[in-house]
Amino acid sequence: MEKIKVGIIGFGFMGHNHADMVQSFDEMELVAVCDTNPEQLTDVPAGVKIYDNADDLLKEDINVVIISVPNPLHKEMTVKAARAGKHIICEKPAAMSVAEFDEMVKVTQECNVMFTIHHQRRWDYDYRRMKAVFDQNLVGDVYIIKSQLYGVNGNMHDWHIYPEMGGGMLYDWGVHLIDQILQMVPSEIDTIFADVKNVINEKVDDYFNIIVRFKNNITAEIELGTYYLTPKRGWFIGGNKGSAIIDDFSGAGKIVRTKHLLENVPGKITMTAAGPTRSFGPPEPGLLYEEPLPDVECSHRDYFVNFINAYYGKEELMVKNDQVRRILRFLDAVRESARTNKAIKFE
Ligand SMILES: NC(=O)c1ccc[n+]([C@@H]2O[C@H](COP(=O)([O-])OP(=O)(O)OC[C@H]3O[C@@H](n4cnc5c(N)ncnc54)[C@H](O)[C@@H]3O)[C@@H](O)[C@H]2O)c1
Repeated sequence: MEKIKVGIIGFGFMGHNHADMVQSFDEMELVAVCDTNPEQLTDVPAGVKIYDNADDLLKEDINVVIISVPNPLHKEMTVKAARAGKHIICEKPAAMSVAEFDEMVKVTQECNVMFTIHHQRRWDYDYRRMKAVFDQNLVGDVYIIKSQLYGVNGNMHDWHIYPEMGGGMLYDWGVHLIDQILQMVPSEIDTIFADVKNVINEKVDDYFNIIVRFKNNITAEIELGTYYLTPKRGWFIGGNKGSAIIDDFSGAGKIVRTKHLLENVPGKITMTAAGPTRSFGPPEPGLLYEEPLPDVECSHRDYFVNFINAYYGKEELMVKNDQVRRILRFLDAVRESARTNKAIKFE
């Protein structure tokens, strides 16, 4: 089978990552890269053509372009690439707005090219373990899912501090965390309530807490802060038959169960540092026991494996445009809720 010839538009942090990924597949060949900043082009792999603009790169004999320029340029580059007849993988956030995304979808459909967004965090190990807990019903009927990401240093760099560049954490990790939850819970959303703050950044969000009420009665809480001064990648799934917990990116965690499941335990007064309590004292020895989380096989390569298979007509793209549009609509609801201090009806 002929190799898929790939070009990369925007050879910064993600552009370099994509180059490594493309070159690790026998099915793909990295043909050309472009960047407007010559400093980014000093370490282009041997044999790969170099351009200082997208128009020239798009004249190359390539089948697929990967768009990894800053967010406000995604639409322009997608439209150009589609009109040049190239299939497209575009970085997240897909677009700055739903209207922009609709235009991108329209043009790519008219030009009959593949168009998908790089939501590779659907294959994160920590997420996949928790999704397996959910899918396999390992903690019974789920009532709450928490997804938390805390950073220590405010971590806004380069163009991420400018709103007009699509800066802020909602457009950054926010879209990944939202996508993960939407892919986990197979239900329409009733309401979205959100708190969005700029804690140490003047113009862009660096903290958000989003409460999602799904119509199937599950609540999800998605919380991110870049300035917690204690790092964490946390997951919690609470069900009526157990709790599943992860505390960091390694995906290490556990399922905790109780031997007196759904039984009313007689009130017994225990003394705690906060005074006597009947409900919140330490559990009796042996009451709680732990089980391992399910193991899963996944890596960010899986995103590209799916893309390659879809390119050859062997399977459907897994990251679909209606799913991506839902994320962008979700972001609108988050912003509206934060502005109005109201829960927003969603679907
Ligand atoms: N999927 C992920 O996990 C992930 C992670 C990081 C970033 N991203 C996304 O990738 C995109 C790029 O982010 P980054 O962190 O690599 O940024 P970056 O600043 O490191 O790289 C962007 C590159 O685009 C170049 N560029 C700007 N305008 C250009 C133009 N008109 N033509 C060609 N090149 C141009 C810049 O010079 C820069 O080298 C963003 O949309 C970001 O949200 C995704």
